[in-house]
Amino acid sequence: MSSLIEAVEVRRSFEMGVRTLEVLRGVSLAVAEGESLAITGMSGAGKSTLLHVLGGLDRPTSGRVLYRGRDFYAAGDRERSAIRAQKIGFVFQAYHLLPELTVLENVLLPGLSAHGAFLRGKALRARAAELLARVGLSERAVHRPNELSGGEQQRVGIARAMSMDTRLLLADEPTGNLDDENGRNIIDILVSLAHDDGYCVVISTHDLAVLPQMDVVYYMKSGELNLGGS
Ligand SMILES: Nc1ncnc2c1ncn2[C@@H]1O[C@H](COP(=O)(O)OP(=O)(O)OP(=O)(O)O)[C@@H](O)[C@H]1O
Ligand SMILES: [Mg+2]
Repeated sequence: MSSLIEAVEVRRSFEMGVRTLEVLRGVSLAVAEGESLAITGMSGAGKSTLLHVLGGLDRPTSGRVLYRGRDFYAAGDRERSAIRAQKIGFVFQAYHLLPELTVLENVLLPGLSAHGAFLRGKALRARAAELLARVGLSERAVHRPNELSGGEQQRVGIARAMSMDTRLLLADEPTGNLDDENGRNIIDILVSLAHDDGYCVVISTHDLAVLPQMDVVYYMKSGELNLGGS
């Protein structure tokens, strides 16, 4: 199985005045399409930093990130932006939906961005409606986010993350603001998107209850990854 996204000896450090903070200390992993992977570990271990690096948002200090075997950060800014806009979707703990827009408009918004535009007009709306159906929210398309429960808002967040030609879903603590039942529902959707729809799904989580559902679990400690969930 060839990997969609791969990190090879990734290091990321931040210069803090005279000190250097080493946040990722040689992280390697590979995830294929159809596979779900969780990263757990203590607060400050570097989980979010790793997701940003994998998603093309934060250049590693050294090491490589490969998207379909191509060195993501060696590619030009335009190519990286295009891959990011079209193939990679982020899901956030706090949903980050735009309150003025309807649920449907939130989902089609990434499709309107200059870099990512690959569908227009009716086709874009149809795609957004299809994605809302995929997360079980067809009935709520014309509602505003504040009329939805937290779990429903997170389902909109997932639909939005899929709204382009997404292959890689990166979810940073996607259940962090949800109760157990809604959290399980979100994880069920993400795992099903990997197993049934062939997405590559990578999540960070503090929620140990979700780990048994994931194909691969890494434990991150002080910027190093180890297999196994505890
Ligand atoms: N831009 C930055 N500049 C300086 N330090 C940073 C920056 N981004 C992250 N860090 C530091 O890197 C470390 C890891 O942060 P990160 O957010 O990746 O942890 P995390 O594992 O996601 O934690 P949590 O579980 O609380 O979300 C922290 O010590 C944080 O302060
Ligand atoms: Mg984090």
